[in-house]
Amino acid sequence: MALEQASDFCLLYFIVQLFAIFAFATCGGYSGQLRVSVDCMEKASSNLSIGIDFAYPFRLYQVSFEAPVCEGTRRERVFLIGDYSSSAEFFVTIAVFAFLYSLMATTVYIFLQNKYHENNRGPLIDFVVTVVFSFMWLVSSSAWAKALSDVKVATDPDEVQLLISACKVQTNKCGSVHGSRWSGLNTSVVFGFLNFVLWAGNIWFVFKETGWHKGASRLAGGASEKQAGTFNQQPYNQGSFDQSGSYNTQGNLGQLSEYGQVGGPTSYSNQM
Ligand SMILES: *[C@@H]1O[C@H](CO)[C@@H](O)[C@H](O)[C@H]1NC(C)=O
Repeated sequence: MALEQASDFCLLYFIVQLFAIFAFATCGGYSGQLRVSVDCMEKASSNLSIGIDFAYPFRLYQVSFEAPVCEGTRRERVFLIGDYSSSAEFFVTIAVFAFLYSLMATTVYIFLQNKYHENNRGPLIDFVVTVVFSFMWLVSSSAWAKALSDVKVATDPDEVQLLISACKVQTNKCGSVHGSRWSGLNTSVVFGFLNFVLWAGNIWFVFKETGWHKGASRLAGGASEKQAGTFNQQPYNQGSFDQSGSYNTQGNLGQLSEYGQVGGPTSYSNQM
């Protein structure tokens, strides 16, 4: 039974790790390109295919390209505008640390089972860290989603044309050849929020490990029959084996007989 729960735990953390990898790989590994054309009145100085490359961490003010000025062969260096590195790096950092933490948690859980449950310290730390990480996932994903929408505007070929001085002259024609592909970065935002949901859901799983819910459900038991039923069904099944060792050694018979009732929630609440 304990083995079964350990494998559930590992499966869960495996998914958590996979999602974290997706989040930082899709964001951190991104590079995109847009392409604009500057069609001067004197055709010789035109450049109909100016490629502009940019990548993570989106310090766009450092991205530059050469555009014709439409006066002979003279060219000017044009820089994009904006710096979105803080949000992008924050997002990737959270993803990497979430990955490392879940890797460590799995290792500790598997190899140091006894230490993990000793004094409830493992579950306690796990609970606090999980709450912090869910919050961080929410904050960093939101910040990154906002930054991404700004990056999309700043690298839109129609916006980039406005930076080229030759395009301000009516007689020259500027156009967009193609914009950048966003599917990778859109995916990273989706995975960011999926990670938040996963970690927030994990709070409940880790909370059960702390054993606090047992006290809470006993208190809530008398409150309402319906609540008692839904509250007790799971803790009863899970709780009885996740700490069965400590019941036996500490001789916590009161709890054992209470949870040991056969017949489940209905007979339990009738008893109350
Ligand atoms: C047009 O701009 C690109 C840079 O994007 C450059 O490599 C190419 O040589 C330019 N072409 C002309 C005709 O100036």
